[in-house]
Amino acid sequence: MAELIKNDVINAIMERRSVRGYTSEPLTEDELYTLLQCGLWAPSGRNDQTTMFSVVQDDELMQRLHNEALGDAPFKCFYYGAPCVIFLFDKAGNKWSVANASLAIENMHIAAHSLGLASIILGCIKDYMLSEKGEEWKKILGIPEDYDFVLALAVGHPTDDGKVFPRDEKNIVYVK
Ligand SMILES: Cc1cc2nc3c(=O)[nH]c(=O)nc-3n(C[C@H](O)[C@H](O)[C@H](O)COP(=O)(O)O)c2cc1C
Repeated sequence: MAELIKNDVINAIMERRSVRGYTSEPLTEDELYTLLQCGLWAPSGRNDQTTMFSVVQDDELMQRLHNEALGDAPFKCFYYGAPCVIFLFDKAGNKWSVANASLAIENMHIAAHSLGLASIILGCIKDYMLSEKGEEWKKILGIPEDYDFVLALAVGHPTDDGKVFPRDEKNIVYVK
């Protein structure tokens, strides 16, 4: 029976959770810089480095986006009051745009956990961000017109540990 090898990186991967509750305590400059560097240093297809990161630390602005994008949605799925939200965009038409931004966000998600922070990947505003109304938000977020929203990461200090969702080992296939 195989056993999981443990080290700092593997522990962070295995222990990270999506967290849906945050205090208002802001990130330190070093924490934010470190997370963004971890995103920037993700691999990218053909080394195109097309992912753009827009950092928002303005609760009023995030509440506005929440109301505009999701209105009276019966369930909460966006930002959870986190003091920092990092939006990831990638060049429209780039074959690897979704892969590039997804690799960058996962780097930041795991790095946040390793720093004692918590985070959650957010896709529920995607339809809105890719609609005509999302064009106005690109301007607000300082993103050029020829970039598309991919995902966002809410990050901060957690008020809970996040729920554990077991994984299905049947998703792994060994071919002899
Ligand atoms: C592409 C993607 C989009 C996601 N979008 C949201 C979202 O909009 N809101 C949310 O609460 N969680 C979102 N999540 C988090 C997932 O719900 C979460 O990863 C899943 O339930 C497994 O939980 P875990 O990350 O704690 O293991 C998203 C995750 C991914 C990978």
